Amino acid sequence: MKVLGIESSCDETAAAIVTDQKEILGECVLTQLEHKIYGGVVPEIAARSHLEHIDEILEETFKKANLKPSDVDAIAASAGPGLIGGVVIGVMAAKSLALALNKPFIAVNHLEGHALAARLTSDVAYPYLLLLVSGGHCQILIVRGVGDFERLGTTIDDAAGEAFDKVAKMLNLGYPGGPIIEKMAALGDENRFVLPRPLANSGDCNLSFSGLKTAVRKIIEAYSPDNKIEHAILRKRDVADICASFQLAATESLTHKLQKAINIFKQKCPQGKDLVVSGGVAANTYLRQHLQDLADKEGLVFSAPPIRFCTDNGVMIAWAGMERALKGLYNDLDFKPRPRWPLDANAPKAAGAGGVKA
Ligand code: KG4
Ligand code: ZN
Repeated sequence: MKVLGIESSCDETAAAIVTDQKEILGECVLTQLEHKIYGGVVPEIAARSHLEHIDEILEETFKKANLKPSDVDAIAASAGPGLIGGVVIGVMAAKSLALALNKPFIAVNHLEGHALAARLTSDVAYPYLLLLVSGGHCQILIVRGVGDFERLGTTIDDAAGEAFDKVAKMLNLGYPGGPIIEKMAALGDENRFVLPRPLANSGDCNLSFSGLKTAVRKIIEAYSPDNKIEHAILRKRDVADICASFQLAATESLTHKLQKAINIFKQKCPQGKDLVVSGGVAANTYLRQHLQDLADKEGLVFSAPPIRFCTDNGVMIAWAGMERALKGLYNDLDFKPRPRWPLDANAPKAAGAGGVKA
């Protein structure tokens, strides 16, 4: 079986074709660079760019796979959550192909795409504990199956990736912030600045990054003659030390709450053996190492998708589509894209001939 997946919910226009044997037959990702000068993604610019490039991305994907559109068995698209202008373009492309080719359409929750990606590339079995950390989301979930998630914790303010992006912006390092902060942090002293671990004692698995970001802002302001962040005079060494201290604080906040979540997971799912990280921030090798250490200590197997499948891509959407297709979880062509779409409100419904509205 072959499924085509389309991703267009943020600033990547992407497509891929995967098989039920976990082969990736063809894939294509275009990252929009137009947003760099704005320090963040501009929704209207993103939507226009998706519109301009979606056809060539699809053509290129079929060409790489050496397949015709009629060779795929189902067509999946990221149908939310995300920037709605972009989501609509990917969903319309998928629905048009499905209609023209008389193939089933699958509306994939973008977060489910991130959540299941590790099952394509590693031997991860349900149920597993997932840390989902991206530019828009930060959640700890038990994944019991397709569309079957239990949320143990979430950020109460900024997402983890958003915190990396905002700190990078304060330091004039550009967008996206994660990769450059990781690079700078490798040169710095992570113990030079003492930063808070927000919600450390809250007793639950929730996270917060807003206070951490404010603490970084205060440090930078202290280097400015008039307390204005844009006038701060920072040496490269200072920037590296701030990045390293921030990365340590963010990582420790995540591992601390994950430790709590592991205790709950072990009680609720004694048969579970996997700890998985996914989403754009999962590309961070420093975080991955800390999660590996935590999993080793707890006797769990740690898995993360290869770095190129952590940030947005078509492969994860095609694979989530495949997992749905294998269960007969198809959608009608009147499925409305969803700007908001919580994962844990995605409980599976019985598959029927007319498909399922998730
Ligand atoms: O999953 P993704 O591509 O898009 C969303 O669905 O949000 O995640 C993008 C986020 C950005 O905030 C980016 O700064 C962050 O992932 N990111 C990283 C790294 N690479 C990307 N954060 C930390 N370290 C990285 N190496
Ligand atoms: Zn994403």
